[in-house]
Amino acid sequence: MMKRRSTSFQNRSSHHQYWKRSLLFVIVLCTSICVGSFVLLEINRPNINLFMPFPNLFTQKPKIAFLFIARNRLPLDFVWDAFFREDKDKRFTVFVHSRPGFLFNKATTKSLYFLNRQVNDSVQVDWGSASMIQAERLLLEKALVDPANERFVFLSDSCVPLYNFSYTYDYIMSTSTSFVDSFSDTKGGRYNPKMQSIVPERNWRKGSQIQWVVLNRKHAEIVLKDETVFPVFQQHCQRKSLPEFWREQPFPVDTSKQHNCIPDEHYVQTLLAQEGLEGEITRRSLTHTAWDLSASKDRERRGWHPATYKFSDATSQLILSIKEIDNIYYETESRREWCSSKGKPSPCFLFARKFTRPAAIRILNLSLPSK
Ligand SMILES: *[C@@H]1O[C@H](CO)[C@@H](O)[C@H](O)[C@H]1NC(C)=O
Ligand SMILES: *[C@@H]1O[C@H](CO)[C@@H](O)[C@H](O)[C@H]1NC(C)=O
Ligand SMILES: *[C@@H]1O[C@H](CO)[C@@H](O)[C@H](O)[C@H]1NC(C)=O
Repeated sequence: MMKRRSTSFQNRSSHHQYWKRSLLFVIVLCTSICVGSFVLLEINRPNINLFMPFPNLFTQKPKIAFLFIARNRLPLDFVWDAFFREDKDKRFTVFVHSRPGFLFNKATTKSLYFLNRQVNDSVQVDWGSASMIQAERLLLEKALVDPANERFVFLSDSCVPLYNFSYTYDYIMSTSTSFVDSFSDTKGGRYNPKMQSIVPERNWRKGSQIQWVVLNRKHAEIVLKDETVFPVFQQHCQRKSLPEFWREQPFPVDTSKQHNCIPDEHYVQTLLAQEGLEGEITRRSLTHTAWDLSASKDRERRGWHPATYKFSDATSQLILSIKEIDNIYYETESRREWCSSKGKPSPCFLFARKFTRPAAIRILNLSLPSK
């Protein structure tokens, strides 16, 4: 009897322990599921603002929007794939503008980062016409929807990154300015006096094309909302003739061409000058272009064309020589710009063009050990 009672007591005691443990287990499980799904939701659905009542609890990491303007596919998508894969925190978004009718799917890109990222109402971009500006605005329209996007980096289909994601991110985020290559353009006859009533000549600027600018959110919104300068450009900034590689000239060579205006080399620069915002820009491009390959024996690649790097050009020395550039000289203004980041001397360029696919494969291979 004693024995039984004692057993029964033991049974009851262990029974009690069992329920205590089960309860604890259920509580821990529930808490984990709740916290887990919160975290997952936050990671996977950054656009859905489920946490409006707790804005400070789930503050978004600032993101960079990478906006690609491509003709068709992105032949260097694999380089960007490796670049984006490094960022575990998803501090970026991607959008692509390609010609109407071209679709990024599993047959046209092997990179997941470019699937379903296409602007579906794209326009036919005629190189050097105002349609390039339209493409830019379409990309901004999509990218501005996500409030976490704080910088907007324009890239072409032949650009490669020179550094890893973290370095690139820190460099771009370390200043609140936009990076826009911009200089006064008084030499040539590209300014059309018919613009005068809206865009006075004192605000007329020249720079590199849209595809090599980085905008902050404020400037991106100004570009998207602009209803004043853009129509003037559509009407009065047109190219005159179309010599071969005409639009690839970085500086006026022949100034006799009256009003031979290339919209996307003037638009952002002029708009920001017009709005009195030049104090908020770093007046250089982060994308390196080699303009003069006078040493090249290849006739096609000589002169004022952007050099295209082929497999044989794509050496570690080439990449190093681009990374080592720490100042830029602007001939038309006799101005030398020393590059800095976070108040310290720094490389000028984060991206470079133009690379063929074999060249990019080689570069990626070279840089892998350091990544
Ligand atoms: C483009 O996408 C948006 C949203 O994803 C959709 O509402 C719209 O209908 C699409 N437009 C076209 C032309 O497919
Ligand atoms: C990549 O590099 C390795 C050794 O560094 C070399 O054996 C291989 O051929 C390279 N591949 C390409 C495609 O260049
Ligand atoms: C990224 O690149 C920078 C500069 O080249 C280097 O200092 C840093 O260690 C790299 N970071 C990673 C995570 O590889």
